[in-house]
Amino acid sequence: GNKNINAKLVLLGDVGAGKSSLVLRFVKGQFVEFQESTIGAAFFSQTLAVKDATVKFEIWDTAGQERYHSLAPMYYRGAAAAIIVYDITNQASFDRAKKWVQELHAQGNPNMVVALAGNKADLVDARKVEAEEAQIYAQDNGIFFMETSAKAATNVNDIFYEIAKRLPRV
Ligand code: GTP
Ligand code: MG
Repeated sequence: GNKNINAKLVLLGDVGAGKSSLVLRFVKGQFVEFQESTIGAAFFSQTLAVKDATVKFEIWDTAGQERYHSLAPMYYRGAAAAIIVYDITNQASFDRAKKWVQELHAQGNPNMVVALAGNKADLVDARKVEAEEAQIYAQDNGIFFMETSAKAATNVNDIFYEIAKRLPRV
């Protein structure tokens, strides 16, 4: 039969990488040019049907500002999945994403499904991080990678769908 899965998912990443925008696109199908910087964290939920299961994502959209870093473990502890987001036009945000990957490997749930999202893929002319570099990094670190655009709605449902497929079916 079809299984119902509840999955806690956390978004992590640098300020302005587009975490809230990805969630807003996934949950409400919307995009805003002037999305406000998140304070603390925000909670959303959204259900997604995959072949053999219906997954209810309980989503924690964390704040990228450094002063909120100490709160992050509250959100990733016990999470079944994480999306680490960087901005393809910002090298520093990719460096920050790698730090999150290390932190999750050191402190997170070892069975966590981790996705790396290279967001703002619509801004190709301003690209600073090559997709190939991120793909190799992801492969070396046992996580999966997709470039996304919250603005153009590219690969947004897809990244959640890929996570849903990879969640353990207990
Ligand atoms: P914090 O909450 O401060 O950690 O930032 P965040 O990661 O939640 O980023 P947010 O979603 O607030 O997006 C920051 C800015 O980038 C906003 O002005 C968005 O409109 C813009 N933005 C987000 N995603 C995209 C995208 O895919 N393409 C483009 N062109 N702009 C985007
Ligand atoms: Mg935000």
